[in-house]
Amino acid sequence: MNVGDLESVARSLVAPGKGILAADESGPTIEKRFQGISVPSTESNRRAYRELLFTTPEVSGYISGAILYDETIRQKSSDGIPFPEVLIRRGIVPGIKVDEGAKPLPGFPGEKVTEGLDGLRDRLAAYRELGARFAKWRAVIDIGDGIPTAFCIRANAHALARYAALSQEAGLVPVVEPEVLMDGGHTIERCGEATNEVLSRVFSELARHRVRLEGMLLKPNMVIPGKKCPVQADVSRVAEETVRTLSRTVPAAVPGIVFLSGGQTPRQATEHLNAMNGMGGHPWELSFSYGRALQDPVLKAWKGEAANVPAAQKAFLHRSKLNGAARFGKYVPALEDAA
Ligand code: 13P
Repeated sequence: MNVGDLESVARSLVAPGKGILAADESGPTIEKRFQGISVPSTESNRRAYRELLFTTPEVSGYISGAILYDETIRQKSSDGIPFPEVLIRRGIVPGIKVDEGAKPLPGFPGEKVTEGLDGLRDRLAAYRELGARFAKWRAVIDIGDGIPTAFCIRANAHALARYAALSQEAGLVPVVEPEVLMDGGHTIERCGEATNEVLSRVFSELARHRVRLEGMLLKPNMVIPGKKCPVQADVSRVAEETVRTLSRTVPAAVPGIVFLSGGQTPRQATEHLNAMNGMGGHPWELSFSYGRALQDPVLKAWKGEAANVPAAQKAFLHRSKLNGAARFGKYVPALEDAA
C-alpha cells in the first residue's frame, strides 16, 4: 500500500457528515457494559450485539468505519458472513484495536503505559488479511497529585509512535489515541495543560518515527473539567478550549481529528462536537469515534432480547444521525426528540 492509499482511507473515515463507531470493547469492558443491562457476557451475546450494530439499516449514511476487537473481527453474522465483510458490503471501513491494554508503569505510582508492541508487526499483517484497513491504539493519561509525569507522557507517546509507524508499514491507517481521562476533580485549565503537553509530545515522537501525518487520524479527548470538578464548563467553553489546544499542537497535515467520548453523556458529546464544527475554519475535519456516546442508548434499548433489536437499531441510527448533524454544526436539541 502506498502513501496515497493510506491518505484516501484516512480521508474516507472523516468524510463529511460521518464518523467512526468504536465497538472495540475488550472482554472485561464489554462485560462491564453488559452488566449495566443485566446481560451475561457470553460469546453468543457479544456476537449478537455486534451484529445488531453492524447491520443497522441506513447507518452507513453516518458511520464511515467501525473499530473491532480481536474476537469480533473473527466472528460472523447469523447468516455466516464474516463481520469485516458485512461492514465492507455496507460501505463501512473495518478497523481493529491493536493495543493490549494500559498496565501500571513501574516506578510511577498511579500511572500507566500501554502494552502490545511485541509481535505487533505480525498481528497487523494478520488483521489486514482479515479485512482491517485502520488500527487503533489507546494510551491513558490520568490527572492527579503530581501526575501526569513527563516520563509517563514520553513513554506513552513513544509507544504510540512505534505503533503508528508499524501500522503504516502494514498498510493500515493508525488512529492515534492519547486519552487524558476525565475522571477526578481537576479543572478544565488543568485538562488543557495536560492535553497540550501530551499532544505536543505525541506529534514530536510521530515526527521522529517518520509517521506520515497525511495517512493517520488523531483520536483525542476534549478539553473538559474532571467529572468531580465543582466548576463545570458550558458547551462553548469546552469547544473553545479544545480547539485552542488542538490548534497549538496538531499539524494541519493531519486529515482529521476523531474525538473519543470518554464518559460524556451521549448528548454532551454531540453538543460539544457540534459547537466545534459551528466555529468553522479548522484545517482538519473534526469528527467522532465514540464508544459509549453512541452505544449507551442502544444497550438500554436492546437489553439482550432479540425482540428489541429493531428498537435498538433505531436508537443507534438516531444517535448516529445526531452526530452526523454535529459534523456540520447543524445539531439542535429539538432533533433529540425527532423519530
Ligand atoms: P468512548 O467514546 O466510550 O470513550 O470510547 C472510545 C474508545 O475507543 C476508547 O478507547
